[in-house]
Amino acid sequence: MGQIRRKQESDRLGRGRDLAAAGLRVDAYTLGDRREAMIADVRRGLSGFPKTLPPKYLYDEVGAQLFDEICDQPEYYPTRTEDALLVEIAGDLIDRYQPEQLVELGSGASRKTRTLLDALVGSANDPSYVPVDVAEEMLRGSANALALAYPALQVHGIVGDYEHHLRHLPPSQDRMVAFLGSTIGNFSDIQARQFLRAVRGQLAEGDAFLIGFDLVKATEVLNAAYNDAAGVTARFNLNVLNVINRELDADFDVAAFEHEAFFNERESQIEMHLRPTRRQEVRIEGADLSVNFAAGESVRTEISRKFTRSRAETLLRSGGFAPDRWYEPENGYFGLALALAGPVV
Ligand code: SAH
Ligand code: AVI
Repeated sequence: MGQIRRKQESDRLGRGRDLAAAGLRVDAYTLGDRREAMIADVRRGLSGFPKTLPPKYLYDEVGAQLFDEICDQPEYYPTRTEDALLVEIAGDLIDRYQPEQLVELGSGASRKTRTLLDALVGSANDPSYVPVDVAEEMLRGSANALALAYPALQVHGIVGDYEHHLRHLPPSQDRMVAFLGSTIGNFSDIQARQFLRAVRGQLAEGDAFLIGFDLVKATEVLNAAYNDAAGVTARFNLNVLNVINRELDADFDVAAFEHEAFFNERESQIEMHLRPTRRQEVRIEGADLSVNFAAGESVRTEISRKFTRSRAETLLRSGGFAPDRWYEPENGYFGLALALAGPVV
């Protein structure tokens, strides 16, 4: 493992802002070998078959903004469904579990979180919010906006990778961790289990974990959500090639790739691919790698697994959590599980 370099900033403003947000602190952690890790990921993913790339590289500054736009597309039902569910249950959740600190993994624009924060600040004596995300600009902007909007709330943002930096969570006696959006679905089953165990390892027994699961539904609804008519998801997907071009001095011709997303029923997952429109060889100078795309060969850039309640709860148990409550809207599109950190085994 490479060295972890730590850069800490307290009460710093979002870039370009001149309004001080009291109660705001942002710590940024970067893997010392971030570039090395990316090189290794790109080499591993593009040398093998099928070709793949880890989804976290979708979220540079442009990608994070594009994801935020995806959330507003009429076809992308997960955000508005989970949001409506949170509006219904937030009061009950906060009353029942009485957290003082809300940690959010992969917080993005922290849009849906406001519903939970409204309930939290109305109930806790010393409420705090800890958003954790790799997308630095997005995290700084939203942390600053939340600190301004909720004067009674301590906001302690962590710019970092939730697969590496969870040990930096500020301590709390009464913690609730949220992992919304069904981001858990972007992991394979094995990765998801490892991730849940790592999260469990940072918690005290009995801590509350609120996690969103996108549920299996009609294939047409799923396919439409990842192929919006405005083409935002296509731009989001293609942008990962810009990221590799920029970070690793590669020469992907982005215009020669097409977005493709479809529901793989057997695996119960949406797969997002980039398919070249012609045969081509790409040079990735920074990884000292040449990649040939045979006719019809694509790169899988993301999986987005779709769950049933029973599969979600089995996964939680295998990660060291005890499912406590399950919330689901009438249309059965999305589930929110509240699970408790189990005993350390
Ligand atoms: N929770 C929000 C955003 C989901 S998008 C919602 O429900 O709408 C997924 C978020 O996870 C993005 O903001 C992305 O930057 C972040 N992310 C992806 N991989 C990450 C990682 N390894 N570590 C930290 N954040 C990550
Ligand atoms: C963040 N994650 C849960 C989204 C999803 O639906 O899997 C990312 C996304 N990819 C395409 N559209 C949205």
